Amino acid sequence: MGPIILAIESSCDETSASVIRNGKVLNNIIATQAVHRKYGGVVPELASRAHQQNIVATVQTALESSGTAKTELDAVAFTRGPGLMGSLMVGISYAKGLALGLDIPLIAVNHMQAHVLAHFIDEPKPNFPFLCMTVSGGHTQIVLVRDHLDMEVIGQTQDDAVGEAFDKAAKIMGLPYPGGPLIDKYAKEGNSEVFKFPMTNMPGLDFSFSGIKTAFLYFLRDEQKTNPAFVTENRNDICASLQKHLVQMLLKKLREASVQTGIKAIAIAGGVSANSRLRSELHAMGQSLGWTIFIPAFEYCTDNAAMVAMAAHFKYLRGEFSGLDVTPLARMPFE
Ligand code: KG4
Ligand code: ZN
Repeated sequence: MGPIILAIESSCDETSASVIRNGKVLNNIIATQAVHRKYGGVVPELASRAHQQNIVATVQTALESSGTAKTELDAVAFTRGPGLMGSLMVGISYAKGLALGLDIPLIAVNHMQAHVLAHFIDEPKPNFPFLCMTVSGGHTQIVLVRDHLDMEVIGQTQDDAVGEAFDKAAKIMGLPYPGGPLIDKYAKEGNSEVFKFPMTNMPGLDFSFSGIKTAFLYFLRDEQKTNPAFVTENRNDICASLQKHLVQMLLKKLREASVQTGIKAIAIAGGVSANSRLRSELHAMGQSLGWTIFIPAFEYCTDNAAMVAMAAHFKYLRGEFSGLDVTPLARMPFE
């Protein structure tokens, strides 16, 4: 019988807990923090307070709904980083308390590696090596995955994450947070050929999304000078054009990464992988280039503890445990 592990995720604004038994994820309990909506983005101080409020019940639900007694646990896993310091601190402290009380080992998980390992929760699982583009509100990375715990970041954003670009553009248009899903929704009704935006060209496989945000701001400001109703009158076309642009920026680099590495097994992860244009363009590109595409179920794309549990399972099998003196890391490189 394989290990039974409780995993906790608290790196940003989702408090989540999951139980994994012998490599099989039993559940994925997520408490979403609605408190940030009215601020147009995640407020770190409020996030850590909400984690503190939610963590006990979230863990309790994960244990109960999987029929797991605390005494059955073989290890407790938590997200060590990267993430918001105060948020990470809540999960790590809770995990330490539990590990100490039950006298079981701790497993520290890298959140970015966990996003990649979300592909091993359900079938079909990719074969090694594969490329995984992790795209969310906090991250934009292309990862070369050689094995479950052997990964290398071969490209990443030098400034904003792509989800941040979606959210900030939405905010400029007066849409509520998180704006990414709304831009996707309105884009479905719009024409993506109406407006053009400048392409920021970064060397190698790196990305930059801060330029497009500024260009978008100036574009709307200039149009609104002659037509104050510009945004309302053109909302769907603006969303469709911007979305097309952002997706193009992502897929251009992903294609280059595939050419450079010769790898045709291509995965995406993170909240932005819910984007319908990214999915359809990825499938179209994959078909013409002979790629095999992997996209996890949506609940495993956004921040969740099931992916942390999956990562913890592989670390357990390798005997990679942490001491009680382990500290959170706001920035955390791949091991
Ligand atoms: O992975 P996630 O839940 O949290 C982190 O940021 O780690 O990702 C959230 C991000 C937000 O920026 C949100 O706007 C974006 O994913 N997002 C989308 C869509 N659904 C979520 N962006 C574009 N289109 C979508 N359909
Ligand atoms: Zn994430």
